[in-house]
This record gives sequence, C-alpha cells and structure tokens, in this order.
Amino acid sequence: MEAESQMINFTRGVPPAEAFPTEQLQACATAILGRHSAVVLQYQPAAGYGPLREWLGGRHGVPAEAVLVGNGSLQLQAFLSRVLTAPGDTILVERPSYDRAITAFRERGLRVVGVPIQADGFDVEALEGLVRELRPRLMYLIPDFQNPSGLTTSLCKRERLLELADQYGFWVVEDNPYRELRYRGEPLPSLHSLDGRRVLFLSSFSKVLSPGLRVGYLIGPTDLVARVARLAEDTYVSPSMLSQGIAAEFCQRGWLEPNIERLKALYKPRLEATLAALETQLSAAQWTRPEGGFFVGLDLPQGIDGTRVRAQAQVLGLKLSEGRGFFASRPGDPDGNAFLRLPFCALPEPEIREGIRRLAEAVAA
Ligand SMILES: Cc1ncc(COP(=O)(O)O)c(C=O)c1O
Repeated sequence: MEAESQMINFTRGVPPAEAFPTEQLQACATAILGRHSAVVLQYQPAAGYGPLREWLGGRHGVPAEAVLVGNGSLQLQAFLSRVLTAPGDTILVERPSYDRAITAFRERGLRVVGVPIQADGFDVEALEGLVRELRPRLMYLIPDFQNPSGLTTSLCKRERLLELADQYGFWVVEDNPYRELRYRGEPLPSLHSLDGRRVLFLSSFSKVLSPGLRVGYLIGPTDLVARVARLAEDTYVSPSMLSQGIAAEFCQRGWLEPNIERLKALYKPRLEATLAALETQLSAAQWTRPEGGFFVGLDLPQGIDGTRVRAQAQVLGLKLSEGRGFFASRPGDPDGNAFLRLPFCALPEPEIREGIRRLAEAVAA
C-alpha cells in the first residue's frame, strides 16, 4: 500500500483535480436546470445543444450548422473516419501521434502510416514522398502542443500541408484540444482558419474545463457535419444535453477565458520544472521544449533499451507509458521503444522533480 502511494505516475495526460472549476460548474448546472430543464433533460438533435453550437460558431467564425457537439472529440474522430474513409484506405498520422487516435483508425480497418516529425512539425520531404506513394484519404495531425511530443507545426508546414491536400485531394483532420493552453510564444493560425474547405477541426472541453463532462466538437463543411450528425443519431440518438448545457452556460457567462488563464498559471510552472529537471538530471537524453499543452516528449540516450528503463523505473516507483503505441511505423522505421511521453500537468512540481530523478536513476541503472 505504502509503495503504491509513493508511486509517481508519468503515464496519464489528464488534468489534476485542482484544475476543475467545480463551484462554477455547480452554479451552471443549477442555472441550466432551473431555466432549461425541459430542453436539457430531453432527447435533442444529434448535432448538439443549439446555444453551444452558436457560441462555438461565433468563436471560430463559422455558422452554427458547421459545428457539431458530441460526447468527447475522440468519438467524433471515429465518426469522421467512418464518413471519410472505407476499410483498407491508407491514412497518414504524425510519428509519434496520439495512441488512442491510431487505435480508433485501425479499428475502422485503415492502414495507418506515420510521418516522422521534427522540432517544427512533420518532415515535409517524408510527407511529400508518402503522399505520392500511398495516396492517403486523409492526414490526421495535432498541430499545437502535440500529444505525445508537445511539438507545434510551423506556419510554413501548415501551409504546405494544405497545398498538398489540395493537389492530391485528401482531407486534413486537425485535432486541437491543447491549442488554448499556450504558456509562451505567439499563437499560430489553425489549419482550419487557413483553409476551411479541406480541414475538419476537432476540439474539446476536456482540457479547458473537464474531461468528465464529455463535451467535444467538430467544425467542418456543413454537408459533412450533417453526415456525422446522422451517424451520431444512429449511434446514441442524442448526446449528453445536460453536459452541453452546463458547458454553454459556463461559456456564456464569460468564464472560459479566465478559467484558461487560471489553468495556464497552474501548468506553466509544471512545464518549467520538467524542463529544468531534465536539464540537470538527464542531459544525455533529448527532449522537446513545448510552448504549451500537456506533454514533453523524450528520446532516451543512444543505446538505452526503453523496455528495461520502464521495468527499472517501476521498481523505483515511477510509472512510464509504453512508447510503441504512439508510433505507426512501417518495417525499418523507429518503433518508439526509446520514446517516453512525460505528461507534466497532473503532477505538482516536487513530484515532477522526484519523478525525473527516478527516471535518471533508471536510465543510469
Ligand atoms: C490529441 C487528443 N485528441 C483527443 C483527445 C480526447 O479528447 P476527448 O476527451 O474530447 O475525447 C485527447 C485526450 O487526451 C487528445 O490528447
């Protein structure tokens, strides 16, 4: 029991309990049930709660019909792949990419191929080669503070991807749940804002409000949004209206921006503590220097076996995730065994420092 309570968990990219604006959410729940119970306690259209679609449309400069709000963005990604692809199609993702997204694409029967990424996003030459060779149906990417590496795609790479998508006729699925959590540097335009014709934008309230609400959204061409809405209706009739009502109330009261600012103030020192601890403890490794989000990605020093580091870390009271799940690799590509994702938001600074000390000890062993 005692050993377990001392275990430091560097596996889960979740917000800590202190991130939740619980009292404000309580007030929103009371208000929405007081005013709109007949709506939010009823089945409603599968595209989501009207006022929230309106609000999100205003925020992203699109009409409400271009917005669909569902039960978390991961399921919307799965719906999208059913609408945009057929089993057997090839799609591209960054390498590494979000492991659950890769799994969901594979469950659709897709061939998922990773494009290597660099400090400023995907390797353009590799992408061009893969597009010509494989003629993908879509590319899925997380351009801001990527899960799992923390990296951000530069503006010129965003523009190049959109040119290629146009030239070769593939869709771009932009998954962007961390975008608003920028701790330094200047924001870059979303792919969707650069070209809304070929881009499906996914985001979520999971990281800026609460994942338990299960409110995620999709923005895209209205005909596609309507097709996803039909699929959603056939799957669950209606998404969780109460959750969407609470989120809408929170946004309409003007509480989202201050909440995001509060989260940034909570997470920024955690990122800084992670980077400083890596500098002092693990200088032989290579790691990313994200400007926001939840993750730092780390490559173990040359010749160090990731499987043994994970096993040794467990003995020292540190849980690390398996790196291979993030890598959609072809034979001969790096398989991700030497990659570690370090989610820093859920841990207070002293635990981050101790966790990285244990990691350095595991590597040394
Ligand atoms: C890139 C990315 N997309 C989607 C999700 C899932 O979001 P949701 O809770 O809205 O399903 C996550 C959660 O970690 C994520 O990192």
